Amino acid sequence: MLKVGFVGWRGMVGSVLIQRMVEDGDFHGIEPIFFTTSQVGQPGPDVGVDVPALKDAFDQEALKALDVVITCQGGDYTKEVYEDLRGSGWKGYWIDAASTLRMADDATIILDPVNRHIIDAQLARGTRTFVGGNCTVSLMLMGLGGLFEADLIEWMTSMTYQAASGSGAKHMRELLNQMGALRDSVTSELADPASAILDIDHKVTSAMRGGDFPTENFGAPLAGSLLPWIDSKLESGQSREEWKASVETNKILGLQDNPVPIDGICVRIGSMRSHSQAFTIKLKKDVPLDEIEERIATHNDWVKLIPNDKDATIDGLTPAAVTGTMTVPVGRLRKLAMGGEYLSAFSVGDQLLWGAAEPLKRMLKILRE
Ligand code: HSE
Repeated sequence: MLKVGFVGWRGMVGSVLIQRMVEDGDFHGIEPIFFTTSQVGQPGPDVGVDVPALKDAFDQEALKALDVVITCQGGDYTKEVYEDLRGSGWKGYWIDAASTLRMADDATIILDPVNRHIIDAQLARGTRTFVGGNCTVSLMLMGLGGLFEADLIEWMTSMTYQAASGSGAKHMRELLNQMGALRDSVTSELADPASAILDIDHKVTSAMRGGDFPTENFGAPLAGSLLPWIDSKLESGQSREEWKASVETNKILGLQDNPVPIDGICVRIGSMRSHSQAFTIKLKKDVPLDEIEERIATHNDWVKLIPNDKDATIDGLTPAAVTGTMTVPVGRLRKLAMGGEYLSAFSVGDQLLWGAAEPLKRMLKILRE
């Protein structure tokens, strides 16, 4: 039985991973060992099978005894532990949600409905480090995988609408506190149908700009606003989040020698845990829309084509409809006014499922095949 160590299982991505593994009975047939950075010796979680007391996540000897480490603990943990563990000669599989190792030559980015052939080839070559992709990249590929598979994309822009969860649990709470503070600033006006909307707007804007508005985590108001910058600035003028779109997509698809250019602007909006993206796609040729729809819809079991009409879009192509599900809807498909080679599309996906936990969960299953 594979000895599998779990690190960072209490955080947001880790909790979703454990919940999905319990749902699918994935803890049966492995020997799970839970690690902690603060509660060594406490009882492990209830996952439906016996587990030993929590072990120290920095204990190299305990880690070396594992066949697989799955970590959702974050990049700082990976930086602190990974090199020493590999340096000690450990040959186990390292499955990581953090971005630290993603672009390393000896790491493979995992999204098996899209790049199972690459994962298999890397396993055959002896690769032992597998890293989940950036959430917008994974969700984009789950939605548009059929177009990449058919080599139809010359270039693409992705304009994102990213949820608070991408920044972390504290940010989700802060978004809700911001929403509450906005409402609280106009409670009496809202109760009075005769109150003037411009007065309400003025009060809400003042509250948003006020010194006691909760912005400790985002650094600015998000509720009632948006933030067109995610992560640090690079020399290219891109944010790091924007840079990832092209480099990670092309690495996932094994296209580094002949990459498909992908660029755009990444924006944080006030949704909770589903990321949305609007795409402008330059096709290599003028492919009929019904063929495009067919290729998208049949690529994997989770993508769902949403007809390009208002009711279907409002009903099925929103964070409110998608959050908590594995479905990745793709809609707003139409040829743009620029010509038959220009396609628009819009997709939504749960940032914690296909965007984070699911590829890791599935990689462990691949190792068990
Ligand atoms: N970087 C993403 C975001 C989340 O900030 O939304 C993780 O991939």
